[in-house]
Amino acid sequence: MDEHQVQEHFRKQVGDYVGLMSRLIPEYEKGQRFLCELIPFDKKQAINVLDLGSGPGGLSELVLEMYPKAKVHAFDLTEEMLLVCQERLNKYESRVTFQQGDYKKDSFGSGYDVILAGLTLHHLTDEERKSIFQVIHDALKDEGIFIAQEIIVDEDPYVTEWHYSLWRNFMKSNGEDDEFWYQKHNEKDHPVSVENQLEWLKNAGFSHTACHWRYWNFAIISGRK
Ligand SMILES: C[S@@+](CC[C@H](N)C(=O)[O-])C[C@H]1O[C@@H](n2cnc3c(N)ncnc32)[C@H](O)[C@@H]1O
Repeated sequence: MDEHQVQEHFRKQVGDYVGLMSRLIPEYEKGQRFLCELIPFDKKQAINVLDLGSGPGGLSELVLEMYPKAKVHAFDLTEEMLLVCQERLNKYESRVTFQQGDYKKDSFGSGYDVILAGLTLHHLTDEERKSIFQVIHDALKDEGIFIAQEIIVDEDPYVTEWHYSLWRNFMKSNGEDDEFWYQKHNEKDHPVSVENQLEWLKNAGFSHTACHWRYWNFAIISGRK
């Protein structure tokens, strides 16, 4: 499938986004909840949160529910995703704002306590990723936290292949075309090992960098400003 067909595929799936993600990503919904539970602030605090590459807003909604005084800024490139996100989150009224933009070049604001990035940074090249880690660091308040769920590779190529095989079996057993998704991953994604990402987070000024969760070629990492 070419780029246009891939985008078409995603557009068609936007209505059943959680269903698709659950068929493609092991423990997708559990991972999202796990990620939000890592936010290290008191639930009564009026935290400012940026959901980078928000998609249809699953992480945003979890935060808005867990933190009744939180404000969330949902940022995404894809109009269709942002529209679904708006429909889903409009009930939170002034606690949520939306922005269509490209985080590689557009400003997403600053002064955040929390920046989340759920399964969105894997298209970036190494240099783009290092650069966005710096921008994210600068967009956080002191003591703010960045938490990301990522598609990763292991440092050992043998283990990476092992994980790919398990991942493909997982997608296939859920009725998905594992060959299509695996090829798409190979063509479009630039997965980076946890070790490299934690080092790049440190280089960007983050401390207490950590990997909290890992399932085959997926991980949840964080850094504190
Ligand atoms: C796989 S979805 C993940 C959505 C959601 N964060 C989640 O955890 O389910 C990736 C999202 O990142 C967005 N995205 C990809 N590249 C982007 C960019 N350069 N700027 C803003 N959003 C981007 C896509 O439009 C898509 O909605």
